Amino acid sequence: MSGARATARANIALAKYWGKSDEALNLPAVPSVSITLDGLVTETEVAFEEGLDADRVSLDGELAGAKESARVVKVLDQLRQRADTGLRARVTSHNRFPTAAGLASSASGFAALVAAAAGALNLTLTFQEMSALARAASASAARSIFGGYVELAAGALGDAQLGAVQFADPDHWDLRVIVVTTAAGRKTVGSRAAMNRSRDNAVFYRAWVDESVELANRVRRAILERDFDALTMASEQSFLAMHATAMTSVPPLLYWNPVSVRVLHRVWELRERGVPVFSTMDAGPHVKAVCPSHVAARIAEELSRVEGVLATRICPPGRGVEVTKVRST
Ligand code: PMV
Repeated sequence: MSGARATARANIALAKYWGKSDEALNLPAVPSVSITLDGLVTETEVAFEEGLDADRVSLDGELAGAKESARVVKVLDQLRQRADTGLRARVTSHNRFPTAAGLASSASGFAALVAAAAGALNLTLTFQEMSALARAASASAARSIFGGYVELAAGALGDAQLGAVQFADPDHWDLRVIVVTTAAGRKTVGSRAAMNRSRDNAVFYRAWVDESVELANRVRRAILERDFDALTMASEQSFLAMHATAMTSVPPLLYWNPVSVRVLHRVWELRERGVPVFSTMDAGPHVKAVCPSHVAARIAEELSRVEGVLATRICPPGRGVEVTKVRST
């Protein structure tokens, strides 16, 4: 019996990933750039045990459903193959996300799973290898293996080794991401089905893929140069282009609710008044406002007063995945 525990953090893309170039390998069609966030943590423990006839997966204290279990088992199978073992595992995972953070947890979840399972099997994988394994489960998870500022390139067909890279550590720039929760509950259309729909029939999909490389370059350059105005322009354009693509899918994918739109407008009003802040959104109704640390508390206060906002939370840049061995009983 051998076990390990891993901690991984969520990340927010400032240049968005939307669309796959290779579905079987789960390769992104576009490059993406993200910040790993402190405070939004998944803790996962994996123990491989003799005598188990199947993997047992528990998520936030409940037995995982068939679909979720299947995704976890697929990751475990890849690691079992590397370790040359047939042992089944007990997987216990908890999202330490504040109540109503309203964020998808697949990025931190799969990053923590890969790291804990590799640790439990005594596999000495590089961060690059862990990132490639996490990417196969969820492309955004490839980025949560690393801390700070991270890029995941677009995948060329058949590139099974593709993983993310860190290009600046968490201390590089004292930005804050304010997570603004605008609704309770989970999103209706998952990102995989949604981005496939966009690829299949969104009128803007080709343009999105073509523009994404330049947008990701602009976002990365702005981060490296700590140029907040340049980051504002490139990052808002990336998220709006992603959502425009989603919206022009058939049937349409409109993730925004009236509260999201009110928050976007308030962010633009603040910017008009000279406050350095911009917005980004993912496949859900919540808004993330990005700003330098010295204005974060004031902006969070302003946004919490927008009608319908349920919660705000300020997150600094966070570290990459961390693993400890545990002695199983
Ligand atoms: O990796 P997935 O399947 O959770 O997709 C993530 C897609 C977005 O969150 C919308 C954008 C991104 O780059 O994180």
